[in-house]
Amino acid sequence: MNNTTEIGKKTGIPRLLEIAGERKGLLILSGILSVISTLLMFVPFVAVYFIVEELLKNAANPALSDMVHIRRWSLCALYSLLISFLFFFGSTMASHISAFRILYGLRIRLANHLAKLPMGYHTRQSSGAIKKTLELSVEKIEGFIAHQLPDLVGAVALPLVMLTAMFILDWRMAVACAIPIVAAYLLQSIVFYGGEGKEAMKHYHDALENMNAAGVEYVRGMPAVKVFGLTVNTFLRFSRAINDYRDWAVKYTKYCKRPYIVFTTILTSLLSFILPVGILLISGSPENQALALTLMLFLVLAPGLSTPMMKLMYLGGNMRIISEGVERMDEIFAQKPLAEQKVPKIPEGYSIEFEDVSFSYDDKDVATRTEALVCVSFTAQEKQITALVGPSGSGKSTIASLIPRFWDVSSGCIRIGGVDIREMGTENLMELVSFVFQDVHLFYDTIEENIRMGNANATREQVIEAAKAACCHEFIENLPWGYSTKIGEGGTYLSGGEAQRVAIARAILKNSPILVLDEATAFADPENETKIQEGLSALIRGKTVIIIAHRLSTIREADQILVVDGGQIVESGKHDELIKNNGLYNRMWEAHVDAGDWSLSKDKKTKAVNG
Ligand SMILES: Nc1ncnc2c1ncn2[C@@H]1O[C@H](COP(=O)(O)OP(=O)(O)O)[C@@H](O)[C@H]1O
Ligand SMILES: [Mg+2]
Repeated sequence: MNNTTEIGKKTGIPRLLEIAGERKGLLILSGILSVISTLLMFVPFVAVYFIVEELLKNAANPALSDMVHIRRWSLCALYSLLISFLFFFGSTMASHISAFRILYGLRIRLANHLAKLPMGYHTRQSSGAIKKTLELSVEKIEGFIAHQLPDLVGAVALPLVMLTAMFILDWRMAVACAIPIVAAYLLQSIVFYGGEGKEAMKHYHDALENMNAAGVEYVRGMPAVKVFGLTVNTFLRFSRAINDYRDWAVKYTKYCKRPYIVFTTILTSLLSFILPVGILLISGSPENQALALTLMLFLVLAPGLSTPMMKLMYLGGNMRIISEGVERMDEIFAQKPLAEQKVPKIPEGYSIEFEDVSFSYDDKDVATRTEALVCVSFTAQEKQITALVGPSGSGKSTIASLIPRFWDVSSGCIRIGGVDIREMGTENLMELVSFVFQDVHLFYDTIEENIRMGNANATREQVIEAAKAACCHEFIENLPWGYSTKIGEGGTYLSGGEAQRVAIARAILKNSPILVLDEATAFADPENETKIQEGLSALIRGKTVIIIAHRLSTIREADQILVVDGGQIVESGKHDELIKNNGLYNRMWEAHVDAGDWSLSKDKKTKAVNG
């Protein structure tokens, strides 16, 4: 997406208009209808003027007033109001249609963009914040285009027309009316758009978001809260976030209080600026009869001016909230997707080669950051099993997740079949590699579809075949609706081991030449584990396999074992060589056998008793 670089140049209202500009035609139509509607709303004021003029002319003898004239103007006022509503309706329709189209486009683009961002972005950013942007921020834009843009056009057009009419009637009184309006707006923009106001606003919204995130976390942690008898107050992050929000809300309200009062007072009391000027003019003029009439028209018009002006002010307030949303959205758009090669290179073969790979999760300064991997080099040969072992936190999973480019290496290079994985296109890479991770994510869909994710074109028979190979056919058949059972619905949840087998079936169906297994049997109970092992042995035949296993016995037969410690490969070789080496692997193996021995000897004892 090459427009990611263009986005972010504009902010605030110009950026909103840029977004709205995607559906220009409909919006212009909406704007025109809105202006006509507002102009028609101006007619009743004129009508009142002419009626009062007629009444005033005959003030001495009201019976002489031209009733036809008065009735005509009354009807005129009524009809123009009705027609004005019709135009308003049309304008809103047009703006809504364009708003929903824009909204649709934005969400699709955001979703596409999010899918292209590296895993690293998704782990840094809470899914709650992304969801909020996808839903709320985009929705606010919809509100702006559907309601506020036509309103804005009207709210600008009406005062302009009114002020112009005022200047034509009597420029002195018009100036008396215009000066306070201009002053009020200057005040508002200084207060709200000035550095301090913007800052306070941003703090306020950050605090609100923080509080929401902490609230969600608190609810998710409810089991722990219950078990340990915690209260909101002991759940420090949440209570701090609430207090923080309160502080900023109060601060922001205090900050706005005085300018807001001044602004509202000025706008609603335009009469008190016009009256003195008018009276002064009338008293000093010989033709005061005409001037008095003009003053009267001003007195009728001025209150009508307050309403759209106040509307503009609220729009200003809303606009800041919307701009915040747009900024959040643009922040996502500004994130660089994984760099893609224009002409992806095709790998020759499926060996995996790490060459001096260093990697850090935080992209801070090279000097200060903590490295998760340091100069890791190894080659996993095609159609061989390469096992990674090492203490927890040593970097095994990190090595595994660099292969599908969940993150890009900080330095060094990873090649598959001789081609740098950054040069082969994410889609090609994804086709080459399957993973089964420790925590399997199943989607809210049927079991069948969850397995089919491995290969969208698979037939039902192929899905079932894969399920059989992964040893999950049996338990799926026993579910209430078999393969059509929706996961998560009606209390259908799979155990860790079952979910794992579904994930293995998915990988079997995908049948890619490279397979990454990260503690795929970690959650399983012994009975499940043998089944998973069976499934896995069906899966790994003839593939380049990288396997991380917490039980060393499962990787004893591996073609190559890499021992990882502190982000480095400290030993490598086959099982027997590593045992002879008498290093970390040997110690781990002894610990493993000791643990295993206990159950073995128990077994022996039972046998002995039986025998
Ligand atoms: N998403 C992450 N963000 C930041 N640090 C991480 C992340 N995942 C792992 N780490 C850190 O990287 C190091 C290696 O972790 P990992 O590769 O998961 O180890 P292993 O799989 O061997 O247990 C650990 O210090 C861990 O805290
Ligand atoms: Mg791990």
